[in-house]
Amino acid sequence: MSDTIILEVARFHPERDTEPSYQSFEVPLRADWMVLDALNHIKDQLDGSLAFRWSCRMGICGSCGMMVNGVPSLTCESLLMNFAPGPVRIGPLDHFPVIKDLAIEMDEFMGKLQKVRPWIVRKDDYVPKREFIQTPKQLAAFQQFTLCINCMLCYAACPVYGLDPSFTGPAALALAERYNLDSRDQGSAERTDLLAQHDGIWDCTVVGECSEVCPKNVDPSLAIQQYKISATKDWFKTWLMPWGNK
Ligand code: SF4
Ligand code: FES
Repeated sequence: MSDTIILEVARFHPERDTEPSYQSFEVPLRADWMVLDALNHIKDQLDGSLAFRWSCRMGICGSCGMMVNGVPSLTCESLLMNFAPGPVRIGPLDHFPVIKDLAIEMDEFMGKLQKVRPWIVRKDDYVPKREFIQTPKQLAAFQQFTLCINCMLCYAACPVYGLDPSFTGPAALALAERYNLDSRDQGSAERTDLLAQHDGIWDCTVVGECSEVCPKNVDPSLAIQQYKISATKDWFKTWLMPWGNK
């Protein structure tokens, strides 16, 4: 087997280019390298102008997400050897505006996270003498949704988000469900009102690609379906018992 591999890397300079192009780089094919190591080799040794994000190199910060051979992936967890003999094509995450090369614009995604009120909402003014107690079973109800690292791979995989960027999308909806299922929270009704609107939960067509690509097994598709069930139950309750809302 060759001891090098070709990386075809998306390049886009916003002040110069009207559309992206791909540039080929030959890099060492080392058994212990991830795709991110190959990109860092390019940046350090071949072309310092290449723009991309990364930080932790251990699947925690969520910043190194890119399209690797068309699949949304954390590049710090994608073994380069798995793509031999190559070439391997690296692009920015699908469905996001590109700032430069492999770096995408995240502002809209951050706004979606904020929109679902991702904090414990209390309606009463009860102040516990110590922390709110939670049983292991109550914790288990939402724990998997706390594992999200905001890597946005699920948005890059979501065909609905690709067609309609106003869709709240998988990670933000999983985050909303994380708080709805928390026994300390009392804000699920207002979150449901917010997310039952056009760009909330009902746009999801249950393709399930979001859960397939999630590197943390968060299963946002399950969160959205659970959310749809509780929103439907709430709707029936207000229809059957309209006085309940008064
Ligand atoms: S749900 Fe999974 S794929 Fe989506 S942002 Fe969170 S960790 Fe990434
Ligand atoms: S560099 Fe942090 S998740 Fe990949």
